[in-house]
Amino acid sequence: MNIDFYERIWMWASAAIITMFISVIGVSALAYGWHPPSHVETIDPAKVFTDPRFSRLGQTITLPDGTIEVQMVGLMFAFAPNEVRVPAGRPIRFRLTSGDVTHGFMIAGTNANTMLVPGYISQLTTTFPRAGDYLIVCHEFCGNGHHVMAGRIIVEDAK
Ligand code: CUA
Repeated sequence: MNIDFYERIWMWASAAIITMFISVIGVSALAYGWHPPSHVETIDPAKVFTDPRFSRLGQTITLPDGTIEVQMVGLMFAFAPNEVRVPAGRPIRFRLTSGDVTHGFMIAGTNANTMLVPGYISQLTTTFPRAGDYLIVCHEFCGNGHHVMAGRIIVEDAK
């Protein structure tokens, strides 16, 4: 079969690009351990408020490596707690879940963005470089009050 010279170039280029993309995914997943924030840790959504992993809502927990952990639950139509204070310049690990239906969790102006799926715990770590007020929005349609479901993160200068 005769394949045109330029066609052949594009076939090889396409194959190289696809190979590169798959390699990038493979290396970041296997060598660096990167994964989507909705990792597979399960929880009974009906017992979220009695589960020890969410027993410190409204508090910040300092982990041994200096990371600060924040626990939050999404509910129709609010986040519990609705407001969190964290310091700037330190890694903040969010541990999130839903007590009812699927919600979204996005911190406006940052790359923190995940879904809160009932039955699963989502976890992500982010650092706020500057002090300020950050809006948390639910970006998964969750019912009549979806558009009012929001929260606030107050980032304070580290003392
Ligand atoms: Cu919760 Cu939309």
